[in-house]
Amino acid sequence: MTSITRQEFLVKHGLDESRIPGHIAIIMDGNGRWAGKKLWNRLKGHYEGADSVDRITSFCRKAGIKYLTLYAFSTENWNRPGDEVSGLMNLLREFLDKKRSALLDNNIRFNTIGSNDRFPPDILKKIEDLRRDTAANDPVMTLTLALSYGSRPEIVETVRKISAMAVSGTVKIEEIDESLISSNLYTNDIPDPDLIIRTSGELRISNFLLWQIAYSEFYFTDVLWPDFKEDDMVRALKDYAGRERRFGKTTEQIRKKESK
Ligand code: FPP
Repeated sequence: MTSITRQEFLVKHGLDESRIPGHIAIIMDGNGRWAGKKLWNRLKGHYEGADSVDRITSFCRKAGIKYLTLYAFSTENWNRPGDEVSGLMNLLREFLDKKRSALLDNNIRFNTIGSNDRFPPDILKKIEDLRRDTAANDPVMTLTLALSYGSRPEIVETVRKISAMAVSGTVKIEEIDESLISSNLYTNDIPDPDLIIRTSGELRISNFLLWQIAYSEFYFTDVLWPDFKEDDMVRALKDYAGRERRFGKTTEQIRKKESK
């Protein structure tokens, strides 16, 4: 995948290495509308969306982004018409089979967040195999798919886990803090996102990473996910590069720290 160096790649796109986010999370929205505009079946939009996943994963790998998280299927998406859900399951099967060698060859760790309860066993096995095999190869990037994911169910599961620890005495009430909560979420081994992108012009967060986005930067674009190309990602990264992340501090405090 990488024939030029990261520095050359960033220079080519006019990007500043020191302003590249470590973790980008994307709400990939607009597949259905993209297909509808062409009077095509919604599933065709999801297949085109999977091509965008390839393009953007490859771009992020070359740009040296360490974590890319993609919202591929929400807990609420199970309520879509049966043929769309089964079409998406088939697309996921194909993705897990076809991407295996590209992930391994490019040292990309495959990861998932979400509930395993409703997936067919063959999909769960493919996910587990890919997670295990790609974890073994000294990863330079982690690609996380949010599958059957909802932030509120994630938080409920975490509260239950920590409550059980408190009841059994493994943890004291006064030991429950932000880091204990973070380390019991699905995202326990990935950092909080620096940048959240949502495509298709919708301005909402849709139950995605509610705890983890406390200090993330947001970027919204009208571009539909199947149309989201490398240039759109460059625009998002340049916009991010111009943000001042203060984490509750003052501009003066931030500038003083940067000049040290
Ligand atoms: C939202 O668009 C998209 C989804 C619910 C599915 C996301 C799936 C992909 C991007 C395909 C990639 C899949 C894998 C396996 C990685 P929407 O259907 O809500 O679009 P709409 O709002 O225009 O109807």
